[in-house]
Amino acid sequence: MEARRQIEICNACRYCEGYCSVFPAITREKVFADGDITQLANLCHNCRGCYYACQYTAPHEFDLNLPRALASARAESWERLAWPGGIAKVFQARGEAVAAALVAGFAVMFALIAALPGEGEGFYAWLSHGAMVAIFTPAFLLPLAAIGVSLRAYWREVGGTRLTLADWREALDAAGRMKNLSGGQAGGCNYEKGERYSLARRHAHQAVFWGFLLCFASTSAGTVLHYVFDAKAPYGFFSLPKLLGVPGGILLTVGCAGLLMLRKQADPELGTPGRASGERAFVWLLGFVGLSGLVLYAVRGTGLTGPLLALHLGAVLTFFLLAPYSKMAHGFYRLAALLREAQDKRVRNG
Ligand code: HEM
Ligand code: SF4
Ligand code: SF4
Repeated sequence: MEARRQIEICNACRYCEGYCSVFPAITREKVFADGDITQLANLCHNCRGCYYACQYTAPHEFDLNLPRALASARAESWERLAWPGGIAKVFQARGEAVAAALVAGFAVMFALIAALPGEGEGFYAWLSHGAMVAIFTPAFLLPLAAIGVSLRAYWREVGGTRLTLADWREALDAAGRMKNLSGGQAGGCNYEKGERYSLARRHAHQAVFWGFLLCFASTSAGTVLHYVFDAKAPYGFFSLPKLLGVPGGILLTVGCAGLLMLRKQADPELGTPGRASGERAFVWLLGFVGLSGLVLYAVRGTGLTGPLLALHLGAVLTFFLLAPYSKMAHGFYRLAALLREAQDKRVRNG
């Protein structure tokens, strides 16, 4: 495997030792089993610092390009471990077409369901609460179960054992601060600027990450209000769903737009060959979920509410159903890799 060849060269060289968690993890091994490569690939944050520092890149005969080798091994691991298999490969190759077709198809489906006779207030005048629950409960739980199956296979492959509270604390801290996205440099990563450092990708990712969590918290708050306090949507601006959802939607939309712009400036040769469509589709879809949610709020009470609700729900449903096969899976695998790294360090340090 190409990644193994390059990792073995890095293990002899060790110049980039302080860059990120990948290099200390490399130096703990002498030989690299398939599971070690999978773990190292998921630990790499594609900051690209090691590429620009490396004296063995092309035209040197070693032809080192570690960010690309690890990105390929990482994408292959997600496709291989996805359950059921095969779907992830299709999405990665033709993600934009698949996502656009599903959003459009589901939007039409929601518009047709909304046309059925029924009663309700606010949004439920278009689509009954019962129909939403019947569609979204399995659409949320089944992909989560599929991700669970894949993560179990990942954990077995990388040799993971029982986790401690300290492992969780260290991994969550590294994920929350995106510690490895700067290659150990205070000035940030080399993602879009080559030999100069920039914090733009880290900031954009933080916006998406926290925006997503706020949107999720907003939906959860709405569910609790509905079932526990019998308070039905739509909610006013000074309600928990809106106070969490509006900033969440703004962060999600702005962050995804930023990530798409940075992708355009970055060198594709240091990324994931053959998966650009799937990667772009994931960011588009996530940003569209945020944007359509915000616009839906803005046009409340007008004739546009019905079509926009259908479009927003179509995007959310597509996002959920594709989660195990799109790059959304990275959040789960990367957290697992950080947990395994924390555990491995603890076990080896006694
Ligand atoms: C455990 C938590 C997470 C970690 C450690 C993590 C890590 C990363 C890293 C390292 C990248 C850049 C490298 C790459 O392209 O693969 C990335 C990209 C990205 N992440 Fe996360 N992530 C996490 C959670 C999330 C969440 C919850 C979201 C939002 C749903 C999210 C959205 C994105 C997006 C939109 C990109 C850009 C994809 C692209 O440009 O292709 N991440 N993440
Ligand atoms: S990326 Fe290049 S400079 Fe860095 S450790 Fe590997 S071989 Fe050495
Ligand atoms: S995180 Fe950055 S420095 Fe570390 S291996 Fe990946 S690209 Fe290289």
